[in-house]
This record gives sequence, structure tokens and C-alpha cells, in this order.
Amino acid sequence: MARILITSAIPYINGIKHLGNLVGSQLPADLFARFNRALGHEVMFLCATDEHGTPAELAAAKAGKPVEAYCAEMHAVQAELARGFRLSFDHFGRSSSQRNHRLTQHFAGRLADAGLIEEVAEKQVFSIDDNRFLPDRYITGTCPNCGYTAARGDQCENCTKQLDPTDLINPRSSVSGSTNLEVRQTKHLYLRQRALKHKLEAWIDSKTDWPILTTSIAKKWLNDGDGLQDRGITRDLYWGIPVRKGDQPWPGMEGKVFYVWFDAPIEYIACTAEWADAHGLPDAAWERWWRTDKGAADVTYYQFMGKDNVPFHTLSFPATILGSGEPWKLVDYLKSFNYLNYDGGQFSTSQGRGIFMDQALEVLPADYWRWWLLSHAPESSDSEFTWENFQASVNKDLADVLGNLVSRVTKFALAKFGDSLPEGGSAGPREAQLETDLAARLRAYEGFMAAMEVRKAAAELRAIWVLGNEYLQAAAPWTVVKTDPEAAGAMVRLAMNLIRVFAITSAPFIPDASTAMMAAVKSDDWSWPHDLPAALRALPAGHGFAVPDNLFRKITDEERADWQVRFSGIRS
Ligand code: MF3
Ligand code: ZN
Repeated sequence: MARILITSAIPYINGIKHLGNLVGSQLPADLFARFNRALGHEVMFLCATDEHGTPAELAAAKAGKPVEAYCAEMHAVQAELARGFRLSFDHFGRSSSQRNHRLTQHFAGRLADAGLIEEVAEKQVFSIDDNRFLPDRYITGTCPNCGYTAARGDQCENCTKQLDPTDLINPRSSVSGSTNLEVRQTKHLYLRQRALKHKLEAWIDSKTDWPILTTSIAKKWLNDGDGLQDRGITRDLYWGIPVRKGDQPWPGMEGKVFYVWFDAPIEYIACTAEWADAHGLPDAAWERWWRTDKGAADVTYYQFMGKDNVPFHTLSFPATILGSGEPWKLVDYLKSFNYLNYDGGQFSTSQGRGIFMDQALEVLPADYWRWWLLSHAPESSDSEFTWENFQASVNKDLADVLGNLVSRVTKFALAKFGDSLPEGGSAGPREAQLETDLAARLRAYEGFMAAMEVRKAAAELRAIWVLGNEYLQAAAPWTVVKTDPEAAGAMVRLAMNLIRVFAITSAPFIPDASTAMMAAVKSDDWSWPHDLPAALRALPAGHGFAVPDNLFRKITDEERADWQVRFSGIRS
């Protein structure tokens, strides 16, 4: 039994995530967690909300709420949607937790002790009326390049020119609108990442089994002209983790907080501590996942994320970990994803374009979305959601292939043999062939799942369902029963066992349908069919079963057209 630590990139707190976010980290991480649990491994699967930084402050201001209250509410909303999508986190934490405060301050202290932190004096815009420094995007003014009057301090949205806040004409605070601004000196902490370049390089070079998407991004940032830069890890913001050196104050850093990208990945560790706290467990319970000196040496750590997150996970976070000089676990395998596009364009949170997690569940249950998203995961390239494709996948794969098999078998069995499995009959060459074919496909499926080849795993699973259908079609128990009821009975027994094997193997993709299938065959033995011949005989003659409600319904053309219109516009 292996010990497997899995983290999904933690979603920003501001707003509900769209399906592109979901398929880029949380959903494939869940697939992998469920698969490894099903194999009997010890799994710790973590996610959290990423709560600090300007976007959270701005979203809270827009909602007219204190940022603490806003984050608490949005965390609850995201947690509920995660449950709706059956994301099986062992804990869904918060980067604003006290655990993360303490750990983030701890890491900063260690880095300072190791001489890896530098104080840098900078000039920044201060708003006298707001009594605060303004980050670049909190300053609005007229673009010196094109005259657009609502340009932001970091960039003009109209002409895309990159700006410094001091470039703006008639600058004003986006917080209050005040023009009573001045440039003041401020001090920030920088993490000397360049001093860690060789350590990072050696570590990345040792990862020969990482996907090309991951290593190419890491190496680009490591080696490009202005590759690995020292990184500012503090901000003049209210909302965040106060800058402290471990449990000591940090002179000169009063009123400042750590940069959101410094504290967010540390939440992976803090989240595990939150999990232990929630279960009343001692520190040793979470440390055995993270500290190689405290039991984590035999843990394999997998991270899931979209490609935009890769630099932070291959360079910045490892720099924090390596720089600390403490034996924390580093990631062993990093699975990254391209982008999912929406119907000829991009999903966009700011424009409200595409399908968001809450809307998806209003329209159809989780399994439908899970199946489509995972079977079309943007792995080797970007992929695209279209309603036509979604309808075709659901109707064919789920309704025609899997759903139909389950309903045909159970209905036929009930009509001809009553509500328990018939006796008699024996397997012939057709059944032997099915067993051989199924075993081969099952081993391939396991291989793809273990390798996190999500699309290939989905294709293999679908092929497994198809084998079941083809067998039934060829064996034709509904014809055989007229002349040889015992032979038909043996086919029904096998088919009912197939349903159970399909339920177990499909559960990582479509957990609710799997539960319904297990209920139909009245089994709660979820053990993985390592021994397929035995698994296909697990339900004996006399074993009860029931006809389940339709597992999947088809999407009609009218619905498809309706949803296409409904989701084409801007989300209100
Ligand atoms: N919130 C970030 C995003 O959605 C991901 C943060 S992952 C982290 O892109 F843990 F590293 F912070
Ligand atoms: Zn401009």
C-alpha cells in the first residue's frame, strides 16, 4: 500500500469558478484521488480557497462587504459546489487560516535566517485620504499613450500599454476616487531566488518523468534572459498574512502583509494541519505527510494545476521549501493542463462567459459534466467545449452505451428470472473471450489512470463499457432464453457481474452512477477487480438485484439549443 499526497491548485476566492478552471485542476485531481483510494492506497487529497490579495479585496468592496465576511461566504459557496461535483477532498481549507498564518511566517523566518531575504526600498503611491499605499491596479487615470481615461496603474485596457502608476495623467484612487495622492518611500522583502538557482535546476533536472508541458515551462523561466528573478514577497495591503519573522515582529514591516503567491502554496501544508485540527489529531498526523524526517519519506506527492500555475509550483514554491533548509516534502509529480475553451472563444470569469459551476449543476447532475470534462481534458493541447459535442458524448457514451446496458440487463433478468440471479448454465468460448478482452482493457485502463493520462483512461473505460454491450448483443440472451433458459441464465449472471465491475471501475469518473449501479446489483463490495475472473463470479446464483431508475437521460435537441442561447451571453 502506497501513501499518496494529492493537491489541486487552490481556486481564488473571488467568484464562482467556471468549468475550465474545474477541469484544469480540481476535477482531474479528484479522479486520481478516487482511483488511488479504490486501489486501497492511503490518500490525502487537499484543496482550499486562495483568499488573499487585491482581487479578493476588490471583489469584497464591489459586493459591499468586509473582506473577512466576503471570504467566509465565498468559501462556503465554493465548498458547497465542490460537494455538488463530488470532489472528494479530505479537507477543503482556507489560505486565511491561522495555520497558514503561522506556517507562512515560519517559512519567512527560516528564509531570513538563511540569508535569503533582502529588504528593498521602493517608491509607491500613497493615498492620503484612504490612509494606505495603493497597489498598481488600485490607481486609475488617463493613459499617456492613448488618452483612455480609465486606465489602470499596471496597464491600459484600451491600448494594452504596460504602465507604471506614475505614468498616469490625473491619477486617482480606485478605492475612494481621491486625487490626494503622493509618492512615498516604502520597504519590501525580496526572496533571493537567484541564489537558489542551482539547487532548483538540479532538482528540476532530476524530474525526468515529468510531462513536457511542465518541464518546458519550468526551464523557460529558469533560463530565459530575465528568467529567475528575486521576488517581492510583501505588499502594502490590509488583507493578508501580517509580515512576521516566525513568531517575532519584523522591524520596519509593520502594517505589511505577505504577497498572495507567497502564502498560497504554503496553504497546501497548512490545509493538512487544518485537516488534523478538524479531526482532533495531533501535529504528527499531518507532519507524516509533509516532513521527510517525520514519516513522509515514503509519501509520493502529486500536484494538479493549469499551465499558468506551473512557474509558481516549479520555481517559487520549491524555492521557499528548499530555502527553508528544513526537510519538507517537495512535489514528486506535477500534472499540468492546457486551457478549455468555450464555444469558439474563451471561458472568462471577468466577462462571465461560459458555464460556471453553479449553473452547470442547475442544468444537469455532476456525472454528466464530470464525464464530458474528463474525457475531453485539455492535456496535449487546448480543447473546446461545444454543446453539440457535449450532447453527443452524453447521449452516446453515457445513455446509449453504459446506461442502456444496465437497464437492458436488469429489466430482462427481472422479466425472465425474477429478482434474483438465475442458476445453471455455464460459460462458453464467447464468455472466455470477453474475459480475456476485458482483462486486457482493464490493465490498460489502470495504466493510464496511474499515469494520469486522463483522456486515454476515459477512452479505455468507454471501450470497457462497449465490450459489455457487444457481448450482450452477440450472446443475445433474449433469443437464447426461448430454447435454452439455463444458458440465458448464465449470461444474465455474467452481465450482472459486469455491471458491478463497471460500477467499481467507473466510480472515479462518475461516482453517483456507480453508486446507483452497486445498489442495483445489491453489492457494497467495492474491492478493485485485480482478479477479474473472480470479480466476474462475485455475485452468485440467488443473489438479489433491482432495476434502477434510468442512469442517464438523453439531452434533447431543444435543450441543447436552449442552453446554447442561455449561456452565450454575459452572466449577470
Ligand atoms: N489561485 C491560483 C489560481 O487560481 C492558484 C494558486 S495555487 C497555489 O490560479 F496553491 F499555489 F497557490
Ligand atoms: Zn492607452
